[in-house]
Amino acid sequence: MTFPAIPTGRTLSGDAFPLTPNPHPATDTERAALMTDPVFGKVFTDHMARATWSGGSWGDRGVVPLEPIPMHPGAAVLHYSQQVFEGLKAYRHADGSIHLFRPTMNAERMIDSAYRLAMPPLPVDDFLAACAALVQADQRWVPEADGAALYLRPYLMATETSLLVQPSDTYDLVVTASPVGAYMGGGGGVSIWVSRGYHRANDGGTGEAKTGGNYAASMLPQQQAKENGCGQVLFLDAKEDRYVEELGGMNLMVVLGDGSVATPRLSGTILPGITRDSVMTLLADAGRPVRERDIEIDEIREGVASGAIVELFAVGTAAVVTPIGELRSDDFALTVGDGKAGPVGSWVKKELTDIQYGRTADDHGWLIRVV
Ligand SMILES: Cc1ncc(COP(=O)(O)O)c(C=O)c1O
Repeated sequence: MTFPAIPTGRTLSGDAFPLTPNPHPATDTERAALMTDPVFGKVFTDHMARATWSGGSWGDRGVVPLEPIPMHPGAAVLHYSQQVFEGLKAYRHADGSIHLFRPTMNAERMIDSAYRLAMPPLPVDDFLAACAALVQADQRWVPEADGAALYLRPYLMATETSLLVQPSDTYDLVVTASPVGAYMGGGGGVSIWVSRGYHRANDGGTGEAKTGGNYAASMLPQQQAKENGCGQVLFLDAKEDRYVEELGGMNLMVVLGDGSVATPRLSGTILPGITRDSVMTLLADAGRPVRERDIEIDEIREGVASGAIVELFAVGTAAVVTPIGELRSDDFALTVGDGKAGPVGSWVKKELTDIQYGRTADDHGWLIRVV
């Protein structure tokens, strides 16, 4: 599938999603209080974008006041989880302009996810216009603080009232917006629990789609991680319980002692992360191509223990670049390097965020201006 090129240097139009203003938006004082150190995904702006699919096409596009979504108790999404979603951020630059980072990739990934869930694709132009219109309506909610951003959550869900296990004939698109700070605080590394026995995805399953069911399956191992003092789970492949795949919401990067970087290859069970792709591009630009390959958990265990692996970090929209300080499981506990951020992860985090926040040239044309 080919998509229209987005002209650079222009502000993306949200006109396709006309605004019905919220008659009772948060006051400046209320908004300032809500935006002070918001918990990730707990604060929402005054509006949401929406559209509906029925009769074989998308319509009813608009940005409307944020409100509960009325739903029949028999709506298909509530029973069979026919749902896909995305996550991307809007960044405020020093001149006040606001930019989305590679939103076309999110739009394309949502089309791929929708295909796997037998849902109608939302055209790229609609995805972009919905995000642009929402940010334009709620631009006062885009934080100024370094590391903070407005997190957009577009999703599609099956709305037909039916308990039959079959694709719905009606769907809703909704996009919400949440001001967020840094997902994982602190300069130290996060502790990772290596999940044994529980897996996130199987061959032929939905691992590379961004659908709620994958995350539902990750709740129990995530809970185990917490009980073991860890912040995140690392999943191994379901077939052999041997190869590292990804974390609950981030992709994994491995830095070896010779300076090379490796990441698990996209096998169909891993989400093709946009941060993963961006980090790989930035490292390759700097003469450090990232090898996509199978990586055994034993290679990581032995490498971390021997010093052959010097750094591990996780990458994703929410967490940006997060150093991994410790790896734990039922039968081992290992500190990675000195347990803190390493030089490669720190370097790439700065490169990436400098582009996102407009502090350096966007040579790859990754930003799309919306305000
Ligand atoms: C399971 C999973 N892997 C990886 C990622 C990272 O993807 P991205 O960089 O596109 O946010 C995410 C977050 O969206 C995720 O949920």
